[in-house]
Amino acid sequence: MHLIIFGAPGAGKGTQAELLKSKAAVAHISTGEILRDAVKRETPLGVKAKAIMEKGELVPDELVVGIMKDALQDPKSDNGFILDGFPRTVPQAESLVEVFKEMNIDDVVLLVLDAKDDALVDRLTNRRACKECGKIFSLAEVEGKSECPSCGAKNSFYQRDDDKEDVIRNRLEVYRKSTKPVLDYFADKADVVTVDAMRPIDEVAKEVNEKLKLG
Ligand code: AP5
Repeated sequence: MHLIIFGAPGAGKGTQAELLKSKAAVAHISTGEILRDAVKRETPLGVKAKAIMEKGELVPDELVVGIMKDALQDPKSDNGFILDGFPRTVPQAESLVEVFKEMNIDDVVLLVLDAKDDALVDRLTNRRACKECGKIFSLAEVEGKSECPSCGAKNSFYQRDDDKEDVIRNRLEVYRKSTKPVLDYFADKADVVTVDAMRPIDEVAKEVNEKLKLG
């Protein structure tokens, strides 16, 4: 599987990537996760990315292209990959297509998760994650619980710094201006599959599986 999951902030890219990973043993490459880890560890990359991410802007292309190349060339990606959050600009997409050519990858599927802004703001303001296992939840799933339903860690839920409403609205604007044009770029370079992501998670997953012929 050589898959790019594409969609606005909150469309469900991370959620669907995790579900897909249980069907196909491939690497899940989330540039957002890699950057958040770098920020947490205060690496040189993290120091550069922190303020940009807190505002909901995009980290410069040259930094994220390097992350993407390292991840695709890692042996963990030998069985395939799910790219989540990359590419986000046309120059990133151009670099990616070059890497695909170098790696002789010509069977890329671009899965578009289509959802409306109001639902996205609502989902993101209500998103929580476990800081131990990284699993993503909605507030309704964990409200009042002290243990993570996935790994059992105690008091481990947190809200992302960029999940505040004003930052979310900026992320949506950045998506419209800089990221949506990537779709046109890929129209003749990948098999583009669109799924209505306004339905419940399991229904979205079912259609994703059908459209990707995963049974
Ligand atoms: P990143 O981490 O990639 O964030 P994002 O694209 O804004 O996407 P999210 O992770 O917010 O949402 P998602 O679509 O994965 O939704 P999720 O499954 O969590 O990037 C963060 C930042 O890093 C960027 O702003 C930028 O600064 C930087 N960055 C990253 N990559 C970069 C790049 N390539 N170039 C430059 N900068 C980069 O779901 C959200 C919530 O909704 C959850 O609570 C979930 O439970 C719920 N949910 C999911 N699906 C459904 C559904 N169908 N119905 C109801 N609820 C649902």
